[in-house]
Amino acid sequence: MSTSDVSVNYSQTGSELIEKIYSDDYLSIGGRTSTDSLAAEAGITASTHVLDVGSGLGGPALHLAESKGCRVTGLDIVASNIRTANERAEARALDHRVDFQLGDAMAMPFEDGQFDVILGQDAWCHVPDKDKLIAECVRVMTPGGIIAFTDWLQVGEMDSTYLADVLSAMASPNLATLTGYGAMLEQHGFSIMKQEDISAAFIDQYNVIYARLENLKDEISETFSAKVYGIILGKNNSIRRAFADGKMGGGRIIAKLNGRGGHGRKTQL
Ligand SMILES: C[S@@+](CC[C@H](N)C(=O)[O-])C[C@H]1O[C@@H](n2cnc3c(N)ncnc32)[C@H](O)[C@@H]1O
Repeated sequence: MSTSDVSVNYSQTGSELIEKIYSDDYLSIGGRTSTDSLAAEAGITASTHVLDVGSGLGGPALHLAESKGCRVTGLDIVASNIRTANERAEARALDHRVDFQLGDAMAMPFEDGQFDVILGQDAWCHVPDKDKLIAECVRVMTPGGIIAFTDWLQVGEMDSTYLADVLSAMASPNLATLTGYGAMLEQHGFSIMKQEDISAAFIDQYNVIYARLENLKDEISETFSAKVYGIILGKNNSIRRAFADGKMGGGRIIAKLNGRGGHGRKTQL
């Protein structure tokens, strides 16, 4: 999986399609409900400066700025997502509090020690080197800052063919496990506040989205093509099978950085 797979998956057309199937402004299945629970766990208030890593079309950032009145910076690797998210912030007169910047989660375009909370909603499964991602989070966070994220996880054994099919369907280079993420965060100097397997809720939400996709068959086929609909359905069938087989699920982690963090070491995800 390379950056180009992410660029194709989340191209302007790709993101438009995913948003249609998911919910307004969102490219992740939990939508606003998931943002609200991450915000509550992380203790976000009007005075918090939040960084949303993998900000997509701006769903979590715009919702946080609207509901909490906080400052939010979004980071995404796809230029058209950044353009759309900034346009939406401006259209809603939120651009004094929210800005979206182009960049890679593994080499963030930010100075050290700027953000009180780092958020991620189902985006880090696309990042090839999660150790680099966490190291960058440590660098750009304030001492004692909070990291709060949800992600798609591997929850059962998969042989290489099965795993390759799932990763291709998700446009992901690899899948973390809940304990792998926990260990990695601890090695980087975080204390885990909450580490939850949310697979059951994740799968329920996903099933709603799958049903929505089936209902949109005619619309997507007419707007794009029957072939495009077939490709999307095929990918979602692979994902649905992995959920049903107990191979894939979701997790939510909240952790607090101890001081300036640790040095980090490569962890087996
Ligand atoms: C599943 S979408 C989630 C978007 C958003 N968090 C939401 O909830 O709507 C994942 C996003 O991560 C972005 N992304 C993938 N790899 C990235 C990377 N290495 N650095 C920054 N963003 C990345 C994608 O472009 C995409 O917008």
